[in-house]
Amino acid sequence: MSEWLTVAMPKGRIFEEAADLLRKAGYALPAEFDDSRKLIVDAPDAKMRFILAKPMDVPTYVEHGVADVGVAGKDTMLEEERDVYEVLDLKISECYLAVAGLPTYEKQNEIAPKVASKYPNVAIRYFKEQGEQVEVIKLNGSIELAPLVGLADRIVDIVSTGRTLKENGLVELEKIMDITSRLIVNPVSYRMKDEWIDDLVERLAKVIEGEDE
Ligand code: PRP
Repeated sequence: MSEWLTVAMPKGRIFEEAADLLRKAGYALPAEFDDSRKLIVDAPDAKMRFILAKPMDVPTYVEHGVADVGVAGKDTMLEEERDVYEVLDLKISECYLAVAGLPTYEKQNEIAPKVASKYPNVAIRYFKEQGEQVEVIKLNGSIELAPLVGLADRIVDIVSTGRTLKENGLVELEKIMDITSRLIVNPVSYRMKDEWIDDLVERLAKVIEGEDE
């Protein structure tokens, strides 16, 4: 395969696990990959170019075709609903989406109680399914602050170790769903670079299967 593959990687907590998986799948990634502020990193030996993006933006880069493939959390996929293929569960960055609040939280007869979240679309859909009308307030991070200062009664957020909830005196009220990271693909790239992408999926799947055993 002479052509290169452009991969959108999420900066932050998923990054290390995703890079580890790629290395185990046999792709030679340069050392500067792990400890750099560069936003584009080339791996000439692997014939890959990496774009390092904010996790929530990875599906956008892939949908627009500036990246052929990307690594994105299922949470991001559900929130963004981008026109991309989700081809493989990478089984990394396991966490879950949950509703949380103060331990004293009790359902009131309010018309539209406030819920804060970084995932407004997920939250709106979830409460609609539950038959509850809520007002969703979009925040960009530190969501746990909202119930502590009275911005919202409840939050919809990711729980990983549960430490953030615990250290802020919050409790989980309802679990929404389990989350892992996924390999996503631009539909046109999947046609044009099918051999490349099939090989990548096959190699990654082998590593994931091996780790499951
Ligand atoms: C995430 C999430 C929670 C926290 C959960 O935030 O939004 O705040 O991690 O992890 P834990 O259960 O292990 O404590 P992140 O650190 O990604 O930053 P953010 O608050 O800026 O969204």
